[in-house]
Amino acid sequence: MNRLSCENSGDLARADEILGRGGLVAVPSETVYGLAADARNERSVRRIFETKGRPLIDPLIVHLHHPDLISLYCEIPNLLAPLANAFWPGPLTIVLPYRHGSLSPLVSAGLATLAVRIPSHPVLRKLLAIQNRPLAAPSANPFGYISPTRARHVIDSLGERLDAVLDGGPCEHGVESTILSLADPLDPVLLRPGPTPLEALAKVIGTTPRVKDCLNEPKNPEAPGMLASHYSPSKPLHAIPEGRMEESQTQKGVARLYMKRPYAHGEAADTFWLSENGDSTEIARNLFELLRKLDADPTIKTIRMEYPSGREGLNRAIYDRMQRAAHKMQMEVS
Ligand code: TXA
Ligand code: MG
Repeated sequence: MNRLSCENSGDLARADEILGRGGLVAVPSETVYGLAADARNERSVRRIFETKGRPLIDPLIVHLHHPDLISLYCEIPNLLAPLANAFWPGPLTIVLPYRHGSLSPLVSAGLATLAVRIPSHPVLRKLLAIQNRPLAAPSANPFGYISPTRARHVIDSLGERLDAVLDGGPCEHGVESTILSLADPLDPVLLRPGPTPLEALAKVIGTTPRVKDCLNEPKNPEAPGMLASHYSPSKPLHAIPEGRMEESQTQKGVARLYMKRPYAHGEAADTFWLSENGDSTEIARNLFELLRKLDADPTIKTIRMEYPSGREGLNRAIYDRMQRAAHKMQMEVS
């Protein structure tokens, strides 16, 4: 496995060359690291599934350099242009009616739709621009584990199974892209909350998209990969409503993960926090990194984590990822 640096244009050319030969390259994005292959190469796309241990029924997102390239593969509904103007390049994936172009059929898992994204990470954009290569890329983690937000996370869990990792530093958003389905353009559906908030989508679309409750529909055919058991650490993780972590009792081996720094006992060794002041951008950015860190710490047996009470803005995505990661969810009582 080659560790490539994003500051070096020779390394970018090397990453492109590896992809051209059918290799797998982990790439940085503004959301999480992706496990990329040329979406037209059947063998490489198959390797993505094998490397992650991902079932073939779970389709992949195709990353493109420019929205103009989408018409090579998809039908273009009227709503696409305003959404592209408002949110691309950036952390929004749009599911569109698929025209079955030159991509490997494994990418869309046989569905009549294709998920596309125009990412904003400058390194990934440069790589995509070299040849306008369509890159299929799921998050670069073993299937079911927490998504990677640093190159080190990818190396730790998939390292030797990849041809290269392009190190672009920590990811800006830290949670996966928002997924909006325009499979039926008259009925936009939010399939996965993410850094592009529902409220912002609603403003551009003119009405609030229907929200698909993927968590409670594990067999949801519209998003086969969104099983409730995603993003989990291997240790027991209990999610506690904001402000209800019992502050008095500390237990050996139990880590407490707060959303903001608890000044009263912030010095305690079993106490961790996702942000200084409760800023949701910071919470999202740190969430997967901290869950990985606590999961790897041998002195910790169980994790208790606070979850947000509101669903506005980025909190919808934070709540969603915490709910998926948790093995036990203590519900709010009002
Ligand atoms: O931020 C992201 O979206 C990252 C970065 C690398 O771009 N990628 C990512 O990919 O999160 P992945 O494969 O881990 O999650 C994509 C989700 C899966 O749950 C998959 O089932 C769903 O998108 N998906 C892909 N194609 C779809 C389609 N045609 N219709 C509905 N859901 C689809
Ligand atoms: Mg994933």
